Amino acid sequence: MGYIDNTNKEIYEIRNVRFKKYISKEIINQEVQKIANRINNDYAGQKVLFIVVLKGSIFFASDLLRKIELDCEIETVRASSYGDEMINSKLRLSIENINMFNKNIIIVEDIVDTGNTLSELVKRIQSEKPKSVEIVTFLSKPEKREKPLDIKYVGIEIAPYFVIGYGLDYAEQGRNLPDIYILDEERQ
Ligand code: IMP
Ligand code: MG
Repeated sequence: MGYIDNTNKEIYEIRNVRFKKYISKEIINQEVQKIANRINNDYAGQKVLFIVVLKGSIFFASDLLRKIELDCEIETVRASSYGDEMINSKLRLSIENINMFNKNIIIVEDIVDTGNTLSELVKRIQSEKPKSVEIVTFLSKPEKREKPLDIKYVGIEIAPYFVIGYGLDYAEQGRNLPDIYILDEERQ
């Protein structure tokens, strides 16, 4: 076909950058359920404070937390980078007014790439003296890691390419796609 059709769900284009479908919503749902089962099991009888990292994690958090059968609290923090390119630039963290002392905390992330965001966040959270801190991320790009991170719950490990959909954006677009799309390198 000689033209781009954004209604064709196999290919999605933002600012002349092409993405192709990579992980379907059916697989996403299955993986979210598996993670929820593990957390429900590991924390049975305990309370958990989930700290959701905005904005990317809102869809994953919404799906995951509705499958959690524990007594839990939910808070949000904002971790945004300056600029809207496919690289992570400087980080802003806002984490005020959350009582974390002596609580079991699980940080909810959409994706871990270099690990820089989470290693900063974990440091900040640990300074509040919680009882425990773990991380759940839906996606992980292990080959891109710059900071060592102990991630207890990972949904899917993926190739080291840029992805969009299911909360993840390129230039603030594509977050609302129900499936996950990956940069279509061959077609750039
Ligand atoms: P990290 O600090 O490099 O681990 O990445 C932190 C944040 O960058 C993630 O929470 C996302 O918001 C964003 N990010 C990393 N990789 C991607 C991607 O492939 N697509 C969209 N956003 C990403
Ligand atoms: Mg994120």
